[in-house]
Amino acid sequence: TPAELIRNFCIIAHIDHGKSTLADRMLQITGVVEQRAMRAQYLDRMDIERERGITIKSQAVRMPWEVGGAGYALNMIDTPGHVDFTYEVSRSLAACEGTLLLVDAAQGIEAQTLANLYLALENDMTIIPVLNKIDLPAAQPEKYAEELANLIGCEPSDCLRVSGKTGQGVEDVLDKIVAEVPAPVGDPNAPARAMIFDSVYDTYRGVVTYVRVVDGQLSPREKIVMMSTRATHELLEIGVSSPEPEPSKGLGVGEVGYLITGVKDVRQSKVGDTVTNAAKPAEVALEGYREAKPMVFSGIFPIDGSDYPILRDALDKLKLNDAALVYEPENSAALGFGYRCGFLGLLHLEIIRERLEREFDLDLIATAPSVIYEVTLDDGKEVEVTNPSEYPVGKIAEVREPMVRTTVLTPSEFVGPVMELCQQRRGTMLAMDYLSEDRVELRYMIPMAEIVFDFFDILKSKTRGYASLDYDVDGEQAADLVKVDILLQGEQVDAFSAIVHRDKAYSYGVMMAGKLRELIPRQQFEVPIQAAIGARIIARETIRAIRKDVLSKCYGGDISRKRKLLEKQKEGKKRMKMVGRVEVPQEAFIAALSSD
Ligand code: GTP
Repeated sequence: TPAELIRNFCIIAHIDHGKSTLADRMLQITGVVEQRAMRAQYLDRMDIERERGITIKSQAVRMPWEVGGAGYALNMIDTPGHVDFTYEVSRSLAACEGTLLLVDAAQGIEAQTLANLYLALENDMTIIPVLNKIDLPAAQPEKYAEELANLIGCEPSDCLRVSGKTGQGVEDVLDKIVAEVPAPVGDPNAPARAMIFDSVYDTYRGVVTYVRVVDGQLSPREKIVMMSTRATHELLEIGVSSPEPEPSKGLGVGEVGYLITGVKDVRQSKVGDTVTNAAKPAEVALEGYREAKPMVFSGIFPIDGSDYPILRDALDKLKLNDAALVYEPENSAALGFGYRCGFLGLLHLEIIRERLEREFDLDLIATAPSVIYEVTLDDGKEVEVTNPSEYPVGKIAEVREPMVRTTVLTPSEFVGPVMELCQQRRGTMLAMDYLSEDRVELRYMIPMAEIVFDFFDILKSKTRGYASLDYDVDGEQAADLVKVDILLQGEQVDAFSAIVHRDKAYSYGVMMAGKLRELIPRQQFEVPIQAAIGARIIARETIRAIRKDVLSKCYGGDISRKRKLLEKQKEGKKRMKMVGRVEVPQEAFIAALSSD
């Protein structure tokens, strides 16, 4: 297809505002997917995505659309919708000239939509505002058209009104894409430069790489080079998705499609990288490539120690499709053998954990999420700490923690509680804007460690579910942090060590010691529980001793009953972990590590 007849666009929308439904409707209206072949939400392939109603992996679909007798090719690029995947969103945006800003007409704009809109504006994209779900009785298209118009500087009448569900107005959207989104421009005679905006592992085909060609031409059977690594691969297949893959004779300027090279691991085909011809390589890569960097770390341990090899194989499998997942073996005195894993953010952690439990049938414990601390020691040495139990004791000149730029969108009646929460979490206010009379955007700089644990849950409960949150990592800041250890009968329990701000160390210690006193059953001897910073004890609880002799109840008579009791006690023991001399039930660890 010549570039003048191509339109590349994506859809920015908050979770649940109806992106997948609208995308499906477009596939249907353009005749790409027949009605009876239509699976609900064609673009979201993974089960978990469908169940949770979120899109994780972006993909592209090509749709034919005719306007004024000319046949256009519309490439729709699906963007992931959640905070953890900002980088993938920005790569998808970079592959398009235009974007639909899709807003639920009963909800109005949300924080994530706003964050993605800013990204689109920075990229100088054409923005087409669309109000969705106008079939809903609760829809207020007039009100939100006003809000949208203020935000992007257009007239309220420029906002399209559609229903992905009934199909109303969807053809107008397609026409407007043709009319307003600029055709791609590039040099067809230059060496090829194509940007990778997604990379997916497929059991049968190996890694499928989605690209947008900027300059030149890519053809089947030629050799290509990944510009960040200089690795060379042969193009075994090249084509477009429509939405099933259709091999083609090549991709030219402005075209969007997929490549298959036979690589087996998405790490060899990284989002943001530039693909060029090996025979005539481009000199300069396309802008904006960034290594996906894990930001949140957690120890993952099988509850049954004999599942460890299954956990290892499962992680190896997931890694094939997830360039951001990292892990290394970890051995905890309390939890046994497991893996220290790094994630892009909390949602990423939850998704991986859920996939491990569901697809590989594992029962797991995850330790409290931790961020990366940069520590400068007294002798000038620098270390990175991702595991609180490895935090250096004493000898610390400075500790820096990662900061996030946080956007909260809330109905104005909740401004007070939201500000209070952000302040409790050591936040500094950057700005506060009224989007309309009753909706406020608050921007804060907050230490990432204060966000990763339970911030979102608390925010939701303080605003009766109405606030939305987005954050992006933004540098590091020095802070007065200490490690709090938890000791059982003088033995440190590594899984409970935490790095916290000095002002919060005491309350953390008291809280943990109290929790454990409730959770650990009484033993044959007294067990002190202590919280400590270095050698200094900051909190103490005691579990009093009992004499537990199960046989004493049996009056020495019935042997089989005695045996049964002994068996039972043995069963119970299996799920116990020994910390020093103290028996701790597995459940105590799980309960203590849960956030409530
Ligand atoms: P992700 O892409 O997974 O982030 O979510 P989404 O934005 O794609 O939302 P999805 O298309 O899954 O729609 C969310 C919910 O809204 C579903 O229950 C849809 O049935 C419903 N929905 C979507 N579009 C419309 C619409 O036009 N009208 C009505 N009434 N409901 C809609």
